[in-house]
Amino acid sequence: MLYPTRGWSAHDLPDLSGRHVIVTGATSGIGLETAVALAGAGASVMVTARDPARGNAARTRVRRAAPRAEVEVGALDLADLSSVRSFAAEHRDRPLDVLINNAGVMAVPPRRTADGFELQMGTNHLGHFALTGLLLPALLRAKAPRVVTVSSVMHWWGSLNFADLMTERRYDPWVAYARSKLANLLFARELGRRAAAAATNLASVAAHPGVSRTNLFQVGPQMAGRRATGVVMRVGTALLAQSARAGALPLLRAAVDPELSSGDYLGPRGLGEWRGRPAAARRSANSRDDTAARLLWDASEQLTGVEYRFACR
Ligand SMILES: NC(=O)c1ccc[n+]([C@@H]2O[C@H](COP(=O)([O-])OP(=O)(O)OC[C@H]3O[C@@H](n4cnc5c(N)ncnc54)[C@H](OP(=O)(O)O)[C@@H]3O)[C@@H](O)[C@H]2O)c1
Repeated sequence: MLYPTRGWSAHDLPDLSGRHVIVTGATSGIGLETAVALAGAGASVMVTARDPARGNAARTRVRRAAPRAEVEVGALDLADLSSVRSFAAEHRDRPLDVLINNAGVMAVPPRRTADGFELQMGTNHLGHFALTGLLLPALLRAKAPRVVTVSSVMHWWGSLNFADLMTERRYDPWVAYARSKLANLLFARELGRRAAAAATNLASVAAHPGVSRTNLFQVGPQMAGRRATGVVMRVGTALLAQSARAGALPLLRAAVDPELSSGDYLGPRGLGEWRGRPAAARRSANSRDDTAARLLWDASEQLTGVEYRFACR
């Protein structure tokens, strides 16, 4: 149970020296701010990037903020399972204290991943499902491993249709996004349940950044060639959204707060969870559906070919 206090901030990060963290999608927005704060607290941070130039720019930015921190860049494209497998193969031997499943795309036009999955379900959920399963040996080598999975208030609009998990019938970019963010929460829930059933000390915590000014709002309009929508989004987020640094706080707290355990879900506590300091977030009934969580897990194993082996400590 989470008891909000005066308002958690990055000043509450403990000394993270000796802790190793991987942040997916750390080239911009919430992921980059999360990496900066964790490195500033002394963690060794791996930022993942699908574009090496953007990865190097992120490393430079993190190093500028935390000159003494160990910062590496790992090549990872979550929309390509072969890339997920190569990344995990390279990094599964080193004990991993925290994995932050943050990368994502929102409201993109109908597109497929390299493996033929709808792009949002494929990147936001299935890529992270495969990554976490393949990095499980590294997580189980850490003393108190934690997986943080990033969802959204948009999950409230999501419901899964297992006969059409890829939203092939009547594709709607926002419906597909909401489903992928619901999948993130169901995954976090089922991961925590399975980790506990296997008597591991892995904690699975979810978080969302409220509404934060990031590139997320530009990617869909850019891919669809809709400049006017991009401008509306830019103006809207400039007026209404909090900074990416503030949006990173729920992820940071989810990564380090010792009071948290599997099943907890954090988000900003003010104004409909759009902005503010991190506290317990509200979740939809669909995100608490244990049957759906199990069905999604089975479907994700089948689609990705990744099976979780909790016994490989
Ligand atoms: N911003 C918000 O208001 C908001 C609200 C709710 C939830 N979220 C969630 O917060 C998370 C971070 O988003 P953000 O707002 O920080 O957006 P962002 O600035 O666009 O960052 C998204 C990150 O994901 C990476 N990414 C996209 N596709 C990828 C792929 N196929 N493989 C690997 N990395 C990929 C991007 O890398 P590139 O640099 O290569 O594009 C970038 O680093 C997402 O999960 C999003 O759903 C954001």
